Amino acid sequence: MIEEDLLRTIPERTEITEDAKAFIGQLAQFQELMMMYNCAIREVRTKLEVLNDELAVRSPHNPIEMIKSRVKKPVSIAGKLKRRGYEMSVDSIRRNLNDVAGIRVICAFIDDIYKIAGMLSSQDDITVIQVKDYIRHPKANGYRSYHMIVEIPVFFSDEKVPMRVEVQIRTIAMDFWASLEHQMKYKQDIEGAEEIVERLAQIAGQINRTDMEMQEIRDRIQGK
Ligand code: GTP
Ligand code: MG
Repeated sequence: MIEEDLLRTIPERTEITEDAKAFIGQLAQFQELMMMYNCAIREVRTKLEVLNDELAVRSPHNPIEMIKSRVKKPVSIAGKLKRRGYEMSVDSIRRNLNDVAGIRVICAFIDDIYKIAGMLSSQDDITVIQVKDYIRHPKANGYRSYHMIVEIPVFFSDEKVPMRVEVQIRTIAMDFWASLEHQMKYKQDIEGAEEIVERLAQIAGQINRTDMEMQEIRDRIQGK
């Protein structure tokens, strides 16, 4: 138990109350859980890098332009648990949240997104928990991306733990759009907000047409 190890490191004469002990226990549990999510991210990232390396040998371009990852910040974890009415505890994080570990895969072309998603999903140690295809079914605001919640076993010293990771796959242009649109979430009181929302939706459509045209041109260049 990590918590007991931790408590042993406190000098003996220091008085610690039961409250403090419980708190230290929770902190240690949280730290351990975040470590596990980081490991899960590494596992999925490696799988994606392997696919990218293999496909790059076989085709004239790398399907993956970039991989970004993050572990959700404590304040966002607490906020989401509260918003959804879940218990505020470390245990509850693992039980109720699917996006503590997040990986974003940026591809050049739309067909690369489906290729990567398909190859990752079909690996036998990956369990696909949920898919949301916001490319075929864009959100009303114009948001496009392919989302998957996957579960991957991570091997620790004495146990194998299935961990959930949210994988978002999108094109460079979709990513560019989503980064700017995301800022609107925190700027509701901005002047002319409605007009901005409208323009963003229009641009999302333009971006989609550009993405499709780029793919078509690539196919012609490659003689497909
Ligand atoms: P969250 O509670 O926001 O995580 O949503 P969800 O659990 O319903 O999952 P969903 O797959 O819809 O969204 C997951 C993540 O995708 C979000 O946390 C964002 O990072 C991203 N996302 C979803 N919708 C939008 C959007 O309209 N705009 C932008 N910029 N990002 C979005
Ligand atoms: Mg989220």
